Amino acid sequence: MEITTRKVTIVGAGAVGTAIAYAALIRGVARTVALLDINEAKVAAEVLDLRHGLEFVPGARVIGGSDPSVAADSDVVIFTAGAKQKPGQSRLELAEATIGLTRRALPPIVAAAPKAVFIMVTNPVDVVTYAALKFTGLPPNQLFGSGTVLDTSRLRHLLATHCGVAVQNVHAYIAGEHGDSEIPLWSTATIGAVPLLEWEPLAGRDPLDAVVRERIKRDVVESAYRIIAGKGATSYAIGLAAVRITEAILGDEHRVLPVSTHIGSDMHGISDVCLSIPTIVDARGAGERLPVSLSADELAGLTASADTLHEMQERFGL
Ligand code: 2OP
Repeated sequence: MEITTRKVTIVGAGAVGTAIAYAALIRGVARTVALLDINEAKVAAEVLDLRHGLEFVPGARVIGGSDPSVAADSDVVIFTAGAKQKPGQSRLELAEATIGLTRRALPPIVAAAPKAVFIMVTNPVDVVTYAALKFTGLPPNQLFGSGTVLDTSRLRHLLATHCGVAVQNVHAYIAGEHGDSEIPLWSTATIGAVPLLEWEPLAGRDPLDAVVRERIKRDVVESAYRIIAGKGATSYAIGLAAVRITEAILGDEHRVLPVSTHIGSDMHGISDVCLSIPTIVDARGAGERLPVSLSADELAGLTASADTLHEMQERFGL
């Protein structure tokens, strides 16, 4: 992407925030990359480390600090601040700490960057996005969550490897919660131009039958747990995923991405919850959701996912 005068602010200088900053610089998405974190020593060190690589990336500058004014005039703000998921802990178990933090930290940033599009990444991202919409009063197109963009990329990687095709030719989505209740939308998925459910294995490859599909789905759901058990956090893939969403906004790309948006009125019988469905992302932020048709199993899975998220919203008085 061409260099512009655009500014992207990343809130939280932890493993995820710094991976996003690093990916943003390498991909040249913005003229200014800003890092905001309450830990001044950490943010200063991360800013320095990133600045020392500027010779090797498309022209950009890196700024940072602990004051919300760091975010002033941003085009996109990516919110990653929050408690860290411990090995074995689910994303939903993080909710209490992160909701409290979002309530305190986000409004001053919105005041500093009122026109920015806000991408929530902090987990549990769907509940945090729902809470953030309440705390800020921003319209749902302007504030949404990274949702299952990462899980979708995990799914596509596993399918591509299994079938022996490029990951870019796998058109399959994970929908629902970014978490344990998420579901693959098998019935509308395609590989190249072939409906996924009709896929015949290439020579020397195994079939993509129901057993394999279930294994791949489990792999997607368990991915983050495995990475957290091994290295304490996931970072690189979410860094790239968040930058992909940012590019769709800054480039007004009308890209279909499964971001987590607020479903206000009835969609497949689901309402008043944030969850992921393939959605157009462009300069307005999150636009229309695609009218995806669902099989009976997918509808049941999506409804169960929405129920899980509703319970969390109620538990935290949202
Ligand atoms: C991930 O899925 C932990 O939500 C984070 O990588």
